[in-house]
Amino acid sequence: MLADKDRIFTNLYGYQPWNVDAAMKRGDWDNTKALLELGQDKIIDVIKASGLRGRGGAGFPTGMKWSFMPKEPRPDRPSFLVINADESEPGSCKDREIIRHDPHKLIEGALVAGFAMRARAAYIYIRGEYIREAETLFAAVAEAYDRGLLGKNACGSGYDFDVFVHRGAGAYICGEETAMIESLEGKKGQPRLKPPFPAGAGLYGCPTTVNNVESIAVAPTILRRGAEWFSSFGRENNKGTKLFQISGHVDRPCVVEESMSISFRELIEKHCGGIRGGWDNLLAVIPGGSSVPLVPAAEIMDAPMDFDGLKAVGSGLGTAAVIVMDKSTDIVRAISRLSYFYKHESCGQCTPCREGTGWMWRVMERMRTGDADVSEIDTLFQVTKQVEGHTICALGDAAAWPIQGLIRHFRPEMERRIRERKGETGGNAPMMEAAE
Ligand SMILES: Cc1cc2nc3c(=O)[nH]c(=O)nc-3n(C[C@H](O)[C@H](O)[C@H](O)COP(=O)(O)O)c2cc1C
Ligand code: SF4
Repeated sequence: MLADKDRIFTNLYGYQPWNVDAAMKRGDWDNTKALLELGQDKIIDVIKASGLRGRGGAGFPTGMKWSFMPKEPRPDRPSFLVINADESEPGSCKDREIIRHDPHKLIEGALVAGFAMRARAAYIYIRGEYIREAETLFAAVAEAYDRGLLGKNACGSGYDFDVFVHRGAGAYICGEETAMIESLEGKKGQPRLKPPFPAGAGLYGCPTTVNNVESIAVAPTILRRGAEWFSSFGRENNKGTKLFQISGHVDRPCVVEESMSISFRELIEKHCGGIRGGWDNLLAVIPGGSSVPLVPAAEIMDAPMDFDGLKAVGSGLGTAAVIVMDKSTDIVRAISRLSYFYKHESCGQCTPCREGTGWMWRVMERMRTGDADVSEIDTLFQVTKQVEGHTICALGDAAAWPIQGLIRHFRPEMERRIRERKGETGGNAPMMEAAE
């Protein structure tokens, strides 16, 4: 188990106050000026050497991302850091814990990361439903300004840096980085075509990097404790500590910081008190938030919880939002409910996503009640393949993958329902009312 001395988020559960004095006692804002004095290139080198990969889902190497920003921003085209606190992926609930209880880790990280990429300011885009969290964040940013940690000559470093907090209005798609940029600009939150990538033309057409809250909040500790310390956790290519969010049918659902590459079994045994009803009662797990395919019990039990370990079992680490389902779960219904979510959240720009998500959900609902033909399972699979990879943003893939996982691993269950229905047994009321 990760030792307490190696935890980055020492106030994850809010046992201590979040305010700047308490944060300073925990080591935040401790001579931040000295961190900035390392210089931009050195900071980026340390983050690269630490092996930190983005915590927002895709796992892109963070140091490399920062290095794409211009070394000499033009005065009329300043660079910006956008921090993604939209956290709307079903199952994900880690960024809110950071913001609630350790907001100064994020704000100090914003300064350090913003400085490293020569940004003029950071915009923290926070999910609209996070009302209390936004209040805490506004207050924490105000504290940082009052203490001279932000603003002109931030931390006495000679560097001017501003942090703005922007509240979203509740659309999942605004978590996609270019939709977030559009929304910040006051437009409808719809993803942009790439290229150009944000590092070339992002917020207000200026060079921009978008990073997840956790990716930014861990940066100051990595700089203080060193790249070797951070990379001593986890396997090659999967380094560091990570916030796991375990929900569903475990005895004690929780958010916990652990070493990357911990096995699923260890994670659940050590922190969640085991599977409800025992390990034999485990049906399947969605290991990385609702966008990744489910993994059946036998395949996930000993899988390392990291990018490569979960890819090897046909899924992904995503945001490390681990949704555990025991044998009481109606697995077809669970995936159908996710299909409804993606249909509801599609921004409607691309035909395969706009039409496909609705079509897939309607067929999934018939699969749930068994009111379908066995041959339609193949048609459904083919349609998911026509959506996947054929859209502007990854929401199309996110809608397709859970269904693909279901068909891959639970086809016999889908067929059983259809046969039962044909024999006029089973069948429930449509789920539409519940979803609406
Ligand atoms: C539909 C959709 C929703 C997303 N929602 C989030 C989100 O809520 N938070 C987040 O950090 N990244 C989200 N992402 C990923 C972002 O586009 C982006 O990759 C991420 O913020 C980059 O940060 P990182 O490099 O630190 O991981 C989403 C992507 C898609 C396609
Ligand atoms: S894939 Fe869906 S959500 Fe993404 S841009 Fe296209 S229509 Fe919008």
